[in-house]
Amino acid sequence: MNNPLARVAVVTGAGGGLGSAIAQELGADGFQVVLVDRDRAAAEAVAGSIGDKAVLQPCVLSADVTDAESVQALVNEITRRYGRLDALVNSAGVERVSALEQAPEADWDLTMDVNVKGPMLLCRAAVPLWRAQGSGSVVNISSRAWIGGSANSSYSASKAALVGLTKSMAVELGPLGVRANAVAPSFVRTPFNEQRSDVTDMAGMIERYEAFTPLRRLVDPVDVANAVTFLASERARNITGEVLHVCAGSQLPPIV
Ligand SMILES: NC(=O)c1ccc[n+]([C@@H]2O[C@H](COP(=O)([O-])OP(=O)(O)OC[C@H]3O[C@@H](n4cnc5c(N)ncnc54)[C@H](O)[C@@H]3O)[C@@H](O)[C@H]2O)c1
Repeated sequence: MNNPLARVAVVTGAGGGLGSAIAQELGADGFQVVLVDRDRAAAEAVAGSIGDKAVLQPCVLSADVTDAESVQALVNEITRRYGRLDALVNSAGVERVSALEQAPEADWDLTMDVNVKGPMLLCRAAVPLWRAQGSGSVVNISSRAWIGGSANSSYSASKAALVGLTKSMAVELGPLGVRANAVAPSFVRTPFNEQRSDVTDMAGMIERYEAFTPLRRLVDPVDVANAVTFLASERARNITGEVLHVCAGSQLPPIV
């Protein structure tokens, strides 16, 4: 049932490995969570599996974040159902791996559309709601790749652009009471990585990754979800325009 006092959180890409963990933690923190994915069945499966941990029953809506009409219809539906939007988590993302020399333009366009244009479209559509309520919080899921070190130009460029978008939004929307931050995770074991065609030896890759990571371990989806839930909450009320690396230290230059 709709609780008019509940804070509302929208998580895009909620059918995915990180999006599902983020939705679960936000739900456990008391948010009315709206799980959004272009793959509705995936989001519904997540809603079913996290429902008992959430304070309020999660809701599922489908949308394609690259399509302005689909995004506007989504925000209209959230406005109709809840009349507010307290936390927007842009987690929908894609990575297309290719060497720069062979990089297909279509992969570049898709990556930029989902990873950068999508968050912009969501935020643009949400501004009237935020202006009316005088508050709001955006958490954009960037990646450690934004600082480089990933031989995948379209993905790195998209995640760096997302940081630029986040900082710009923090300045522009701050006077409305809206905060904007980014979370930049390192490699996390999710379907996002399991499906990578460029990695033939995943176990070996993980071993090498752990070896150069200061804390000598991989990040788990819940680590990312905890950082997002903190930034989305009032506990972070004076934190905006930041990038929170959840990387077990792998964002730092190595000792040489
Ligand atoms: N998994 C990692 O190692 C890792 C590390 C750093 C950053 N990230 C970032 O975290 C985010 C989530 O990653 P994940 O591991 O959960 O990925 P995932 O592939 O498991 O999930 C991504 C979800 O986004 C949805 N999606 C894709 N395009 C969409 C669109 N146009 N409209 C709506 N939904 C769409 C997919 O259907 C999928 O459910 C991504 O932005 C990714 O770049 C992931």
